[in-house]
Amino acid sequence: MTDLFSKFDPLIEIREQLLSTGVTDPFNLVMEEVVSPTVAICNGKKTILLGTYNYMGMTFDPEVIDAGKDALERFGSGTTGSRVLNGTYVGHKAVEQALKDFYAMEHAMVFSTGYQANLGIISTIAGKDDYVVLDIDSHASIYDGCALGNANIVPFRHNDVEALEKRLKRLPEGAGCLVVLEGVYSMLGDLAPLKEMVALSKAHGAMVLVDEAHSMGFIGENGRGVAEAQGVIDDVDFIIGTFSKSVGTVGGFCVSNHPKFEILRLVCRPYVFTASLPPSVVATAATSIRKLMHGKAKRDHLWENSQKLHGGLKALGFTLGTEEPQSAIIAVIMPDLEKGAAMWEALLHEGLYVNLARPPATPANMTLLRCSLCAEHSSEQVDQILGMFQTAGRKTGVIG
Ligand SMILES: Cc1ncc(COP(=O)(O)O)c(C=O)c1O
Repeated sequence: MTDLFSKFDPLIEIREQLLSTGVTDPFNLVMEEVVSPTVAICNGKKTILLGTYNYMGMTFDPEVIDAGKDALERFGSGTTGSRVLNGTYVGHKAVEQALKDFYAMEHAMVFSTGYQANLGIISTIAGKDDYVVLDIDSHASIYDGCALGNANIVPFRHNDVEALEKRLKRLPEGAGCLVVLEGVYSMLGDLAPLKEMVALSKAHGAMVLVDEAHSMGFIGENGRGVAEAQGVIDDVDFIIGTFSKSVGTVGGFCVSNHPKFEILRLVCRPYVFTASLPPSVVATAATSIRKLMHGKAKRDHLWENSQKLHGGLKALGFTLGTEEPQSAIIAVIMPDLEKGAAMWEALLHEGLYVNLARPPATPANMTLLRCSLCAEHSSEQVDQILGMFQTAGRKTGVIG
C-alpha cells in the first residue's frame, strides 16, 4: 500500500536541508514570557515583537483583562456546548451586540475562530452548483470554505480588476455567485481595490464577502476596514473578521445586513457542530471591540509607525512588498529561503522577532520577512528595529 505520509517527503527534505545549515528552526520559537504587546522573552533574551497580529495592542489593556477575569469567575472556564444548545451565554450576545454597534450593521454571528467564520459562511452560502470568484492569493480558510461547500472555485489574478470582470462575464447565465475579497492581503500588506471590485461584482448580480481580518480596528475612519475607507461598506453583503488580530484574543465573526441572515445559525455546520467560545474570551473581545470604537489616537500612531518603518527599511536598501506603506504589514522580500532564514535568525540574535513566510503560503514563491506593527510600538522602538535590520542585513549580505 502507498505510504500515506509519502506526499510530505518533498517538504521534509526542504526542512531537513534548511536545518542542516545550522539555522535555528524558524517555525518552533517559544515565547517564554510575554511582557507587553511589543516585548517578549525568547531564548532567555528580551525581544521586540514585530511579527504578531496585535495591531492595536489590546492584549494587555487593563479593562480587557479585568473583563476576562470577571467572566471567568462568574461563568466558569468554558461553555462545554454549541451555540445552538447550551453554549450561548449573555456574553456571546453581548459580543455580537458590540460587533453590530462597531460596524453599524443589523446582524452579527460569532464563531470560535476566523478560520471557522470563513469556512462556515462560505460553505453554507455557496453550494455545489454555485460559483465563488476569488482573488488567487486568498487565505486558506477561504479556499477551505469553498471546498467544504463543494462550490465551483473561479480564481482571478491578484488585485486585477479586469481579470475579475472577465471571470464574472464568463459565468453561466443565472448562476449563483459569491465574490470573495480581502481588505488587506496579509503576505504583502497590500490593499484590494474594493471600490472598483465591489461595484463590478454588484453590477453582475453577485453577492460580495470581504474578509477584513487585517484591517479591522485600524483602517477606515471608524476602524471598520478597507470597505469603509473606500466608501463601499454599504454595498458589501458580508464582512468576515477575527478576534485574533486587532481585538487581541481569539474568535471569528460575520456581520451583515442581509434580511435572512439569522437562518445561518441553524444551517452553518462550523457554527453548529463545535463548542462556543469560553465566557472569558467573549468578555475580553466585547470590551476590546468597544474600546476600538474610540481608537483614533492609536490608529494615527500606528500609521506613523508604518510610515517610519517602511521609509527606513527602503532607505537601508531592502526590497519591500509595496512601494508605499498601505497597512500595518510591511513585507521585506528575501533573495531565497536560505538567506531569509539566516536573516530571520540574525534579527532574533539582535533581539527582534519577525515572521518568516515561505512558499506555498506566499505569492510567486517568495520568501518574506513579514513585519507587523503594533500601535503600542514606540517611535524609539521603531528606531531600534531599523538599527537591528541594518546590522542583520549587513551581516547576512542581504544589503550592502
Ligand atoms: C485573511 C484571514 N482570514 C482569516 C484568518 C483566520 O483567522 P483566525 O486566526 O481567527 O482563525 C486569517 C488568519 O491569519 C487571515 O489572515
